[in-house]
Amino acid sequence: MTQDEAKALVAKRAVEFVEGGMRVGLGTGSTATMFIRALGEHVKQTGIKIRCVASSDASAKLGKELGLEVLTLAELPELDLYIDGADEVDPQLNLIKGGGGAMLREKIVASSSKRFIVVVDHTKVVPVLGKFPLPLEVIKMALPLVLFGLNKLALNPKQRKRPDGSDYLTDENNFVVDCFCTAITDPAKTASDVRNLVGVVEHGLFLGMTNLVLVAGDNGVTEMTR
Ligand code: 5RP
Repeated sequence: MTQDEAKALVAKRAVEFVEGGMRVGLGTGSTATMFIRALGEHVKQTGIKIRCVASSDASAKLGKELGLEVLTLAELPELDLYIDGADEVDPQLNLIKGGGGAMLREKIVASSSKRFIVVVDHTKVVPVLGKFPLPLEVIKMALPLVLFGLNKLALNPKQRKRPDGSDYLTDENNFVVDCFCTAITDPAKTASDVRNLVGVVEHGLFLGMTNLVLVAGDNGVTEMTR
């Protein structure tokens, strides 16, 4: 099974958790996109009524194009279920997210939801977080200060750029800094260290936020729980 096939499989499975009347958070990234497409199809076929809030402009646009009712968090401040992908998942179900640069809004939507289910292909499951660079959303003015602080913490930071060399900007118009840590042996400490740097708006460590990860691989979809 290819990685894309695994993503499609797990995205389809996640739709089974959506019930009529639910307020649903839409994630960001390629797996979340497959989920949004599968959800749009499901809603069309079954006629169930759901309302959604998206974690990025791109996912909001896609949801609306597919006929989903996509509202703002101001209009729908409490959600029942948030479905999103992740870049890494450890055995305690801690996550690194933000490969797509949406970790701030993703964490806001996840925090607004009663339940957060993560959908990944098996390549995302790791014994220790940190091989995937840890992304931080950073206020533009604070970039030099934050880079200095991250270097002092030996977190090996690098400002994210677009392929054409221009600054990568989030939907909130902030910079992204990726920390090439290799291994994050104490995620709570790293989260606290980076949060303490003035100018860091949010980081991509999602600790204790999910109790169910759906993992797709050659044996189908398996569940990691805690
Ligand atoms: C975006 C994210 C994504 O969930 C994460 O990057 C996984 O993406 P994909 O499903 O494309 O592998 O956190 O900010």
